[in-house]
Amino acid sequence: MQQRTLGTQGLAAGSIGYGAMGTVFAYGPTDDTESIAAIRRAHELGVTHFDTAEMYGWGDGERLLGAALAPIRDEVTIATKFGFTTDDWKPDSRPEHIREVVDRSLTNLGTDSIDLLYQHVHDPAVPIEDVVGVMQEFVQAGKVKYLGLSNTDGENIRRAHAVHPISVFQTEYSVFARESEELFPVVDELGIGLVAYSPLARGFLSGAVRPRSDYPEDDIRHILEWWAAEHFDQNVVVAEGLSGIAAERGISLAQLSLAWILAQRNDIVPIPGSKNPVRVADNVAAADVVLTADDLARIDALSRDVRGKRIRNN
Ligand SMILES: NC(=O)c1ccc[n+]([C@@H]2O[C@H](COP(=O)([O-])OP(=O)(O)OC[C@H]3O[C@@H](n4cnc5c(N)ncnc54)[C@H](OP(=O)(O)O)[C@@H]3O)[C@@H](O)[C@H]2O)c1
Repeated sequence: MQQRTLGTQGLAAGSIGYGAMGTVFAYGPTDDTESIAAIRRAHELGVTHFDTAEMYGWGDGERLLGAALAPIRDEVTIATKFGFTTDDWKPDSRPEHIREVVDRSLTNLGTDSIDLLYQHVHDPAVPIEDVVGVMQEFVQAGKVKYLGLSNTDGENIRRAHAVHPISVFQTEYSVFARESEELFPVVDELGIGLVAYSPLARGFLSGAVRPRSDYPEDDIRHILEWWAAEHFDQNVVVAEGLSGIAAERGISLAQLSLAWILAQRNDIVPIPGSKNPVRVADNVAAADVVLTADDLARIDALSRDVRGKRIRNN
């Protein structure tokens, strides 16, 4: 797989990464055996960058990913995130909380060092300088290699970067969610790479989208605007338009969606999440898809018809 460099600090990654959130929550029932097979299949096919977070199962997600990657730990990079309260999912980047969570993440992942540590969400109660100061302690102790931020604004990115170089900004980015483009000038100026989360619009771009009522009660799609009754039908029309372009090119909708992201910038790595080895292979094959200028223009036009905004902070 083609390699990309995430930011000027030199963090390298295969152009398609892997997001492990769905292995423990958000999108219906999970099966650890199948998830481990999916993670290992991703590695076999050239994926090198794997993403998780403390909040994905409060340790369960990190333990699963760590176990799956243990035999190949030296061949991959692992990213994790801190920054939420367990009871009500509020931001919590108090220094003592960060120290406790990151040490626990190292144990959960079964590793001596986290390749990329993110603040998961901005905490208005703690100045970003203090947060990055604590993150930097882990770098100095050799327990973390690169630092990242997620779910924050341009000012915080600048202020954080002034304390310690930020390698990656992780944000929701897809044909359906383009709000983050307003932050591209800041990351360009500072030499920060991008990791695109939920690049398949949380399954809306899976080629098999279903109405909210078909998903289990605890499925995250019950609270996403794209699935709201007033938006769903229009968004299905957009997805069908995209599927039409994908069919012309002989590729899947997921591949079209990921290739569109790769075509936007050369320092962006999407991290699609799949619990299924076959769908992982489908996603990885997007690394070889080259869309024409005409394809990109048609996708761009369709993306303008999406209704509903992405949610933040999860
Ligand atoms: N920083 C943050 O705040 C934040 C927030 C959300 C997510 N993330 C990260 O981003 C990663 C990816 O985002 P995501 O999991 O929310 O959403 P996503 O990748 O946009 O979509 C995941 C959904 O698409 C399905 N899917 C994946 N590949 C498919 C394919 N080739 N064909 C058909 N369906 C496919 C998955 O089902 P199956 O599993 O059944 O294949 C799952 O239901 C997460 O795992 C997490 O690491 C970060």
